Amino acid sequence: VQPAQGRMSDPSFINKMKSASRNVIVFYGSQTGTAEEFAGRLAKDAQGYGMKGMVADPEECEMDNLGSLPEIENSMAIFCMATYGEGDPTDNAQEFYNWLQNGETDLTGVKFAVFGLGNKTYEHYNAMGKYVDKRLEELGAERVFELGMGDDDANIEEDFVTWREKFWPAVCEHFGVEATGDQVSIRQYSLTLNDEVPQEKVYKGEIARLGSFLNQKPPYDAKNPFMAPVNVNRELHKGGDRSCMHIEFDITGSKIRYEAGDHVAVYPVNDPEIVDYMGKRLNIDLDQVFTLTNVDEEASKKHPFPCPTTYRIALSHYLDVTSNPRTHILRELAEYAGDEKDKEFLMKLSSSSAEGKNLYSDWVVKDRRNISAVLEDLPSLNPPIDHLCELLPRLQARYYSISSSPKVHNTSIHITAVVVKYQTRTDRTMKGVATNWLALKKPVNGIKPKVPIFVRKSQFRLPFKANTPVIMIGPGTGLAPFRGFIQERNYLKKDGKPVGDTVLYFGCRHKAHDFIYQEELEDYQNDGTLSKLHLAFSRDTDKKVYVQHLLQQNMEETWKIIEGGGHVYVCGDARNMARDVHETLEKILIECGNMDKEKAANYVKQMQNKGRYSCDVWS
Ligand code: FAD
Ligand code: 2AM
Repeated sequence: VQPAQGRMSDPSFINKMKSASRNVIVFYGSQTGTAEEFAGRLAKDAQGYGMKGMVADPEECEMDNLGSLPEIENSMAIFCMATYGEGDPTDNAQEFYNWLQNGETDLTGVKFAVFGLGNKTYEHYNAMGKYVDKRLEELGAERVFELGMGDDDANIEEDFVTWREKFWPAVCEHFGVEATGDQVSIRQYSLTLNDEVPQEKVYKGEIARLGSFLNQKPPYDAKNPFMAPVNVNRELHKGGDRSCMHIEFDITGSKIRYEAGDHVAVYPVNDPEIVDYMGKRLNIDLDQVFTLTNVDEEASKKHPFPCPTTYRIALSHYLDVTSNPRTHILRELAEYAGDEKDKEFLMKLSSSSAEGKNLYSDWVVKDRRNISAVLEDLPSLNPPIDHLCELLPRLQARYYSISSSPKVHNTSIHITAVVVKYQTRTDRTMKGVATNWLALKKPVNGIKPKVPIFVRKSQFRLPFKANTPVIMIGPGTGLAPFRGFIQERNYLKKDGKPVGDTVLYFGCRHKAHDFIYQEELEDYQNDGTLSKLHLAFSRDTDKKVYVQHLLQQNMEETWKIIEGGGHVYVCGDARNMARDVHETLEKILIECGNMDKEKAANYVKQMQNKGRYSCDVWS
C-alpha cells in the first residue's frame, strides 16, 4: 500500500524539528480538517516572528518525546484540538489523549498553548481543548497563552482570528522576539504540470491508494473506502416540497461488519455545475494533469491531496468548494484582484478589525457565499487555479446514522437522509453536497451506481440485555438509528427472547407528508415489537406538538421505565430538540421522582455515565 500523503518515517518529532531547524510544533486533533487547517496557519504565522513552525499529527508522532522539547531553544508546542461527539477526542488524537490520561511524563520546561475547536450546541463544549490545556499544566508544562476556544455553531473563524491576534504578541513577549513583518504569504506547494503521466497513474478521487476504487481490497476504512453498490434509493416523503431518501448500500463480500447504532460515512462528489463554472471562470483546462508538492521537504504532508490528478478531479473529489471560505483564503486571494476596489474589499473582509469581522459575518457567513459565489461577485478576481487548490479545505466525508440492523440485513447498510436545499439571501440555490449527489445514485435497469463508504463504530447501542426497556426519541431523520434498534428487537422477539418495553417517540411536520416509515412502524406497533408509538405532528394543528410535549404528557410512563432501569436514547437535531428533551427529562425526574433540580441533573448525569442515557445528535 502506497500512502498518497507521506507519513512521518521517523516518529521522533524532536529529531525532525532539530534536523529541519524548527522550534514551533503545531499538533492537531482533527476530524473534519478545520483543526488541521488552523494548525497549518499557525505554523505558517511563526515565520513572521522569526520562528519556524511545523505541523504534526499526534497519531504519527511519538508523543512520549514531548518532554524533550526544551532541548530545542525557544521552542513551543501548540495544540489545535477539536472535540468530537460527546466530548470525545478526534480519532487521530485518541492515543495522545490516552497517553495524557495515563502518562506521568515530566513536562517541565515545555512551553505550550492550546486552541480548542468545539460546538456549543453539544453538551461537552470544547472538552478536549479544556482537558489538554489543564493536563499539560498538571504535568509541569508552562502555558504561554490562555486557552482559546472556537464555537463552530457561531463563527469559529472569527474566534480563531481573535485568539491568534492576541496569541502572537504574547509569544513575542514570552520569548523576547519581535514581529519581523506583517502576515507572510508564502506558497506552501509548488506546481508541476504532468503532461506525460499515463492515465493509470492519475488519481481519480481515491482517498489513498491509487486505483483502489477499481481494484478493491479489504479491510475497508476511512483511507480505503468500499465502493458500495446502491441497491435501493427511494423517496420516503409522501408530500410537501422536501425529500428524504431511504438508501440501501450493498456490502456483500466486503467483510464490513456493523452494529445497529453505528455510523456510515460517504465520500461525496461536488456538483459538476460548480466545477465547470470554476473552470470557465478561471479559464483553465479542467483536464490538465498536475501535482502540488510541499516546498517544505520535512513536512509530513507531501501533497495537499492525492497527486497527480486533474483540476476537474481535485475540484470534484478533493476540495470543499461549497462552504464559506475562511478569512486567510480571502486574504491570500486579494493579491489576485485586478481591480483595486475588489482588492481593498477582500483585505477589509479578511482583516481582524471590528469592521472586517462584521463584513465577513455579513457578506460571507450570512449571505452564505461559497468560493464560486465570491468569484462570481468579484469579477476582477483571477487567482491561479493551483494557488486556489492549495488554499481550499479538503472535501469531507459525510456521516449517516445507520438505519438498519445487521441481524436482519447482514449484507446491506441502510441510511435515511434529508436532501439539503435552500435559498440564500443573494437568491442563490444552495444544494448540500452529499445529499444532492446521493439523490442521483439510483439503480437503473439493474445497473447499480457505486458509492465510497466506510463504517465508523459508535457508542450508541441497545442495552446488553434485550429485556431492558428502552425509550427512543427521534424526530425527523433522528428516527434513523431507531429503525435499526427496532429491527433488532423484532428479530430477538421472533427468536423467542424476552424483550423489554420498546417505546418510540417520533415527530414530523405533517402526518401526510413526512411521517417516514409509517407502514413499518405501524406494523411493529401491531405485532407488539413497539409497545408504544407516540407521534408528534408539529404543523397539522394550530399548536406545535413536539416529542418532548408528549414525553411530558406521559411522564408517569417515562418515570416508570427510567426507575425500572430502562435506557433513554435521543437522536437528531442537536441545536434545539436534544436540549429541550434533556430539560423535559429533568422536569419529569423532579415531578415524578421527587427530586430537586440539582438531584435531577445529577441523576441524568449518572444515567449518561452508566450508558443509560445516550445521544446521537448532529447540527
Ligand atoms: P452540506 O453541503 O454539508 O451542507 C450542509 C450545510 O448547509 C449545513 O451544515 C449548514 O451550514 C448549511 N445549511 C443547511 N440548510 C441551511 C439553511 N436552510 N440555511 C442556511 N444554511 C443551511 N443526516 C441525515 O439526513 N440523516 C442521518 O441519519 C444523519 N446522521 C448523522 C450522524 C452524525 C454522527 C453526523 C455528524 C451527521 C449526521 N447527519 C445525518 C448529517 C449529515 O452528515 C450531513 O451533514 C447532511 O446530510 C448534509 O450533508 P450535505 O453534504 O448534503 O450538505
Ligand atoms: P417544526 O419544524 O414544525 O418546528 C422534525 O424536524 C420535527 O422536529 C418537526 O416536526 C419539527 O417541527 C420538530 N422540531 C423543531 N424544533 C424542535 C424542538 N426544539 N424540539 C422538538 N422537536 C422540534
